[in-house]
Amino acid sequence: MGKVKTEYVCQSCGYSSVKWLGRCPGCENWNTLVEERMYEPATSSPARTFIDVDSSSPSPLTDVDTSIQSRHPTGMEEFDRVLGGGMVRGGVVLVGGDPGIGKSTLLLQAMGKVAKRGNLVLYVSGEESARQIKMRAERLGIDSPSLLVWTEILAERITEKIKELLPSCVVVDSVQTLYSGALSSSPGSVSQVREVTALLISTVKSLEIPLFLVGHVTKDGSIAGPRVLEHMVDTVLYFDGSSGNTYRILRAVKNRYGSVMEIGVFEMADRGLREVKNPSEIFLAERPEGSSGSAVTASLEGTRVVLVEIQALVSPSYLGMPRRTVVGLDPSRVALIGAVLEKKAGIRILNHDIFVKVAGGIRVDEPAVDLAVVAALASNFLDRPVDEDTLLFGEVGLAGEVRGVTRAEQRIKEAEKLGFKRCILAEDSIKALSSPSRCTLEGVKTVKEAIDVLFG
Ligand code: TYD
Ligand code: MG
Repeated sequence: MGKVKTEYVCQSCGYSSVKWLGRCPGCENWNTLVEERMYEPATSSPARTFIDVDSSSPSPLTDVDTSIQSRHPTGMEEFDRVLGGGMVRGGVVLVGGDPGIGKSTLLLQAMGKVAKRGNLVLYVSGEESARQIKMRAERLGIDSPSLLVWTEILAERITEKIKELLPSCVVVDSVQTLYSGALSSSPGSVSQVREVTALLISTVKSLEIPLFLVGHVTKDGSIAGPRVLEHMVDTVLYFDGSSGNTYRILRAVKNRYGSVMEIGVFEMADRGLREVKNPSEIFLAERPEGSSGSAVTASLEGTRVVLVEIQALVSPSYLGMPRRTVVGLDPSRVALIGAVLEKKAGIRILNHDIFVKVAGGIRVDEPAVDLAVVAALASNFLDRPVDEDTLLFGEVGLAGEVRGVTRAEQRIKEAEKLGFKRCILAEDSIKALSSPSRCTLEGVKTVKEAIDVLFG
């Protein structure tokens, strides 16, 4: 490896300078110069790579050995599902989420399970002392001698330790607290976060050890570094949940080894996170009875169907520009449905304030929920409740048509399981069904028809 020096590089145009400048002379943006470590192009060997370079010539795809990518489940089912079946050797997973949401708890619990099976696990924390971790572990009922905890923030020392111990899994909590001795900037800065991550990644990739990195990230990525991180790691998971709500949802936003559609549902209890195996039950648990503005739909989350309640409140507006507040859904989808209701179904709600929310703090981003939004809005507007045992799903088009969605059969099965008696769905979806259902199925072609079926 060649001599190491540092430079200040503009993050938007790539201009480099030997000293820091407030404004980039290249692109004239402010505050874009960040200290970076440079490698002088030395000798013939390439600079550090993230993947293990073990052969000097290309090889036929059919000869590549994939057996090393087999899955190693942690034993925490909901977590493994989101990972795509378990940990992958040399796979690097970034777990992001707001502070206090439960990232450390989740990883400690999962690692407790891995260690319990006799695997050596290294849990490095830059935030908590070994005693604090021990206290948390006691609360979670974890006591395994093969779970090693260590408070350390110098990245070079951590990689040395990994090489020495060769654990079967490593957790670093959190990447913002670490620093590399090669840079003079403070921990948490973009360049440190990137440098530290690159160091850790190249170490675990060559040793084929799974690595979990905790990152303090908000969804808009407002904190320094994390966006850069997302490109460097194999998998990015977000741990989500609303404050005041004990349910936590883990979802993948990037996964080189699996689907990004899967979600894992947990409940934060006083002895750690409890896995929620049947999320529909909890999302429907507190459904108000006989009240207007509530409709249930079946949303596909990865490989499984989750039933969720859509709530709507429509009230005459006294503002020039009526209010639109949407929680848990795409606001433009709701705006579009509002316009369709007004123009195609004679439900004049555009001059009303509209509030729509998905109960239980979950986010659904699937066209299939459209029909339930229609039902909830119309129900509240007309002040007529939707029957409690009725479920709806289907996509709504701008012409007011109701379109079929994928996996209708699976959605109906889940509805049956939770005691629903009637499903309202697109007529096209019914035609595609292969087996009969215990639910009464009512096919509709248009939004107007759906409203007639519901409230006619
Ligand atoms: P933590 O894992 O420290 O969050 P993060 O690492 O994402 O910052 O979780 C902290 C919160 O979880 C804290 O508010 C207390 C709560 N908690 C419980 O409710 N039950 C428990 O068993 C544990 C360990 C934590
Ligand atoms: Mg933490």
